[in-house]
Amino acid sequence: MDLTLIPFYRLSLEEMNEVLTWRNNIFVRQQMCDSSIIPIENHLNFIENLKSDTKNEYYLVVKNKCKIGVIYLTEINSTNAELGLYKNPNLKKEKVGQQLMKAIFYIAHQKNLHDLTLKVLKNNEKALALYSKFYFKIYKQDNDFLYMNAMLNNGLKD
Ligand SMILES: CC(C)(COP(=O)(O)OP(=O)(O)OC[C@H]1O[C@@H](n2cnc3c(N)ncnc32)[C@H](O)[C@@H]1OP(=O)(O)O)[C@@H](O)C(=O)NCCC(=O)NCCS
Repeated sequence: MDLTLIPFYRLSLEEMNEVLTWRNNIFVRQQMCDSSIIPIENHLNFIENLKSDTKNEYYLVVKNKCKIGVIYLTEINSTNAELGLYKNPNLKKEKVGQQLMKAIFYIAHQKNLHDLTLKVLKNNEKALALYSKFYFKIYKQDNDFLYMNAMLNNGLKD
């Protein structure tokens, strides 16, 4: 894989700050379940706790020395996990989302997961276009969100 994945707890303080500026960018946070601005203290505590967390993993994704975005797997168990991602909002390049999805599938395959789930705002057109490209299907919905899943043996290998 031509991508480098750095766990959040291995980032430098400068990188932790940089990632927080992406997460707090309006373009990103308006698409998140929690759209509030995250204070730096909370972010650093959150990262510290990830060191001993076996169910939740967050990574900075780097391609050719360019920091392209963040991916995460949460609620990880022996067969499945929920995914999340956001790209570096300062990047003008397109197709970053596809690179991030490849990184997610790389980790999921390494963990031998059977399937992945996700939760996405109904009006998040970019994310929906991306997820359908990776064979995610809607299995549930409520007022605001679609809940999607995909099997990992369904042609999703990198
Ligand atoms: C979701 C996200 C990672 C996608 O990254 P991206 O680089 O824009 O995605 P890509 O360019 O790889 O692919 C997105 C697809 O949506 C399409 N797209 C772009 N703008 C679109 C729009 N306004 N409406 C519909 N589709 C659109 C693209 O054309 C592309 O499809 P294509 O490959 O067939 O051309 C990025 O938009 C992001 O970080 N959003 C904020 C955080 C977020 O929404 N995270 C997901 C929460 S569930």
